[in-house]
Amino acid sequence: MEYIELARPELPYEINEELKVLRANLQFCGDDKKVICITSCLASEGKSTISLNLACSLREQHKNVLLIDADLRKSVLRRKVVSGKVQYGLVHYLSGQCDLESILYRVKSNNLMMIFAGAVPPNPSELLGGKRMQELLKSARDTFDYVIVDAPPLGMVVDAAMVAQYCDGAAVVVSANDVSYRAAQDVVRRLDNTKCPILGVVLNKVDRRHSGKYYGKYYGRYYGKYYGEYGE
Ligand SMILES: Nc1ncnc2c1ncn2[C@@H]1O[C@H](COP(=O)(O)OP(=O)(O)OP(=O)(O)O)[C@@H](O)[C@H]1O
Ligand SMILES: [Mg+2]
Repeated sequence: MEYIELARPELPYEINEELKVLRANLQFCGDDKKVICITSCLASEGKSTISLNLACSLREQHKNVLLIDADLRKSVLRRKVVSGKVQYGLVHYLSGQCDLESILYRVKSNNLMMIFAGAVPPNPSELLGGKRMQELLKSARDTFDYVIVDAPPLGMVVDAAMVAQYCDGAAVVVSANDVSYRAAQDVVRRLDNTKCPILGVVLNKVDRRHSGKYYGKYYGRYYGKYYGEYGE
């Protein structure tokens, strides 16, 4: 297993606070909800940002956490590596080119375990829906307290549904003002078909300038909010 380091810009105070709310809500969902798929309707709603920061936030509570970059078409997490070399990723394992040990990376500063996507394959949805993916998540569920799966946008490609069928729950990231009601309903329907329960919605990129409650206070800032089973 290789050690790496990630670039993690410090988040604004209020986003950190919202991440703690998200973390707490996830923990209230029960200890049978360990493998969590993070998806959205569209691209760039904030899935990778929330996946990474949620995983780090769980690490702060000394949870044993694995973060998997399952966005095989457009991996972002790989670009955040600032030291260490990532040679193999999920694609190599799923296509039988290497064993599980070769794709596990440990972040030096906080001991977060990570699996990067690897090269872009010609058949992402087949790989993500295959037996090896199911087995990987099954063994990760036995080893880790939480497995956070950064998935592609479900409103655009079917890949996230392939992964979601093997997860214990999903959180849908919704970028405020960017997603229509119909598009969100469509993602809910697709997740329902996989039988993966939706644990909550993260309302991301909310501009506090337009919220009467916070008017002026956080000018130009954004926050992510999680509406879980236990309400706000
Ligand atoms: N709460 C936020 N406030 C401001 N900017 C944000 C917030 N969340 C994410 N971003 C920015 O939005 C962009 C897209 O974020 P990110 O890569 O996490 O989205 P994504 O859903 O994973 O995208 P993709 O579908 O391409 O994988 C990034 O530049 C990120 O820094
Ligand atoms: Mg992403």
